[in-house]
Amino acid sequence: MPIVVPGLPGLSASHPANPGSILIRPVHPSERGAFIGMALRSWRDAYLGLLPQADIDDAPAMMARAWDKRQAAFRVAVADGVIAGFYSLGEAGHPTDANYLWHLYVDPMLQRRGIGRALNAAALDEVASRGATAAWLDVHAANGKARAFYRALGWRDAGPDPDDPDLVRMDIALEPKQ
Ligand SMILES: CC(C)(COP(=O)(O)OP(=O)(O)OC[C@H]1O[C@@H](n2cnc3c(N)ncnc32)[C@H](O)[C@@H]1OP(=O)(O)O)[C@@H](O)C(=O)NCCC(=O)NCCS
Repeated sequence: MPIVVPGLPGLSASHPANPGSILIRPVHPSERGAFIGMALRSWRDAYLGLLPQADIDDAPAMMARAWDKRQAAFRVAVADGVIAGFYSLGEAGHPTDANYLWHLYVDPMLQRRGIGRALNAAALDEVASRGATAAWLDVHAANGKARAFYRALGWRDAGPDPDDPDLVRMDIALEPKQ
């Protein structure tokens, strides 16, 4: 940390579709407003029409609670000076969650520019640095966009979540890191 991912290959730095370098780093406490705004836009992009209205209505409060509890785990992607997405992992040292990809979200206005790919690479690098040889996640079964994204990046379906029939598990093997 931080990790700098070069701009998209094959596009000039001035191309409108090229976010330029993507910097991935821990979020700063002063960035609460920008972070929550981006996270809410992306959360709604994933779950509007998928989750019950009560969950949609609770989303701003839910995101504020997540910030209060999990801010230290949030790693943001900054593209052109803007907070464009984030990931977070489960707690380091936890027996089952240390290699769990908890969040991976990209602002809807900035999707399909390689930011999710960069966040995924940084997240797996962080998991591997914890000594894990695989990572896992849960994704809503009807979240086709996210499932296509993860499959494209090498994750495989690992069956329904035993605790929640709306979710499917995915996993990926990692190169062990010294
Ligand atoms: C899923 C998500 C993180 C992808 O982020 P992104 O920045 O758009 O992804 P990238 O541009 O890095 O895409 C990498 C590859 O994933 C695949 N992919 C991404 N979006 C896709 C889509 N809508 N449909 C099919 N494949 C897709 C493609 O293979 C893509 O490579 P390509 O653009 O060269 O074809 C983003 O759509 C998002 O934030 N969704 C809402 C939040 C969410 O559902 N998060 C997951 C919760 S478990």
